[in-house]
Amino acid sequence: MKKISTFILTILIMTNITAQNIQLPKPQTEGGMPLMEALKKRETKRDFIKDKEFSLQMLSNLLWAANGISRPESGKRTAPSAVNWQHVDIFVSLKQGVFLMNYEKNILELIKKGDFRSQIGQQDFVGDASAVLIYVSDRTKMLREGMSDETKVFYEATYSGNISQNVGLFATSENLKNVIIGSIIKENIIKILNLKEHQKPLLGHAVGY
Ligand SMILES: Cc1cc2nc3c(=O)[nH]c(=O)nc-3n(C[C@H](O)[C@H](O)[C@H](O)COP(=O)(O)O)c2cc1C
Repeated sequence: MKKISTFILTILIMTNITAQNIQLPKPQTEGGMPLMEALKKRETKRDFIKDKEFSLQMLSNLLWAANGISRPESGKRTAPSAVNWQHVDIFVSLKQGVFLMNYEKNILELIKKGDFRSQIGQQDFVGDASAVLIYVSDRTKMLREGMSDETKVFYEATYSGNISQNVGLFATSENLKNVIIGSIIKENIIKILNLKEHQKPLLGHAVGY
């Protein structure tokens, strides 16, 4: 009897954990707008339609474009990083909650339930975006002895720039609006995401309709 109730409890806990995370569908990595056209049309747009949510397929495609695993044999990504350190994580703030993108599993891992989009940036329109991506550096992954803070900051800026350009081009290709948010409120982000000392919030990126 005790064994059966432990088994049921385990299943319940597992179901709950799964229900809190979002398993994304496989990203669609074909098609889209021709590159030269997307480059010509890419622009910052801030007038989002409020409360229009992304489908899971759109989220999966967007996150793959951002920094997805493009070469499964090596685990390398759509965005280049110094020494292939892959030292920037993408957190996603949606209406339902904030999540960490786990690229290996293609899962959005729940960090906290609730709508925190309007607390990420200083400008009001950020809260209207369907998704606010937050690029966060994990300094434990920049593994070079004696590396200066200046170099760390430079590598963080270039990598988050590479990711954000991918997102801007994807958004253009899908007729979405997007704006990079340099004016993030770091103290809010640290609190909401429960970031540790080695995790540095770099940029936000609001994407929507
Ligand atoms: C690093 C960076 C930070 C930015 N931060 C903000 C921001 O906080 N708020 C905002 O409205 N736009 C922000 N932008 C968007 C720029 O204002 C925009 O890219 C610029 O005006 C050029 O317009 P375009 O993207 O249409 O070419 C940022 C862009 C970059 C690259």
